Amino acid sequence: MQKKADPWKDYWWIVPRYERWIESLEIPIHRTYYVEDLRTIEVGPWEDRECNAAVVILEGNKDFMETRITEIPPAGKVRATKFAMDDIIYVLSGYGMTTVWAGEGGKKRTFEWQPHSLFFIPRNYTYQLSNAQGHEPARLLHYNYLPMAMSIIPEPEYFFENPALEPTTDIMGGEEHDLYSEAKWVQGARTRRSGGWVASFFPDLMSFDKVHSNEHLGALPNLSYCLPNITSLKIGGRVLPSGTYKPAHYHGAGAVIVIPGGEGFSLMWPVFDDSAEKMVVPWHEGSMFGPPNLWYHQHMNTGPTDTRYITLHPARHIEPSYSGSGIPFTREDPWVRQRFEAELAKRGVKNQMPPELYTDPDFKWGPPRAD
Ligand SMILES: [Fe+2]
Repeated sequence: MQKKADPWKDYWWIVPRYERWIESLEIPIHRTYYVEDLRTIEVGPWEDRECNAAVVILEGNKDFMETRITEIPPAGKVRATKFAMDDIIYVLSGYGMTTVWAGEGGKKRTFEWQPHSLFFIPRNYTYQLSNAQGHEPARLLHYNYLPMAMSIIPEPEYFFENPALEPTTDIMGGEEHDLYSEAKWVQGARTRRSGGWVASFFPDLMSFDKVHSNEHLGALPNLSYCLPNITSLKIGGRVLPSGTYKPAHYHGAGAVIVIPGGEGFSLMWPVFDDSAEKMVVPWHEGSMFGPPNLWYHQHMNTGPTDTRYITLHPARHIEPSYSGSGIPFTREDPWVRQRFEAELAKRGVKNQMPPELYTDPDFKWGPPRAD
């Protein structure tokens, strides 16, 4: 039988090193713009780690940010791992524990997590994930810079269990200031002038109520949380009350949006292609998508309850291109509003967008009054 030609045979050097590494793991690889439910996509055994896993290659983040699923079998433990990159881990489903420590003999911290928890493992710390339930698996999403890092340092062994790399000792805040316990307000954490909620562990981002509003979009409060001593990764998002949506904006690649609950959709389309059709991304709990470089995106809550979206993103100075101004409601394509209203009508949900938004460019959409 004739052997199937290897399309990469003569071009092996153009396959990104990260892709070659994940292909060697023989776990499922999903290539897509969005995943409607990360809780149910196919995973496969990763024997070395003693867990199931899958990689999602988001079209918008190719060769840049890693989005990888770890599934811990019921009552199981993932093999302890030392990783050379800062890693954000978001809990998609299940209940479990993480133990994290700084090398041999290092003091161990253990904390429990649940759906919608988010925690941070600083580079070069060792950590172990375990499932606290005996009847169901637990699923987690990892977000880090591994694809970009491997394009510079191609040896996988540099990034895992590297004995030459030491943790940065003060990254957890020190003995007196355990940031795995609760978020603390730190003045100057976000910019020189503005403070932020700093933590390595957020127990439930669906209900975490430390939000802030700005003048023009006060009705859609901001979530903006900081990780201790880390400038390379950020967490953000917004609260979307029922029957509302955010204006379109764009920026560079790398941002990933995860949906902790509710029901709605997002639109994505290229900034510099006036003829492009808008991609409709349906979402609910467990959905994830990544707006590609220089694509507008906007998010609509068409469900009967308030919800929020969580963004994981690289630092602004690392994004491969600059962000630009968004499209104000007054200059929005009327199709956007029509599509939004059609989806609301299907569900019998009221449109809560003030009509002045579409006619008055200076209209300030303040927070709803408590009456
Ligand atoms: Fe964005």
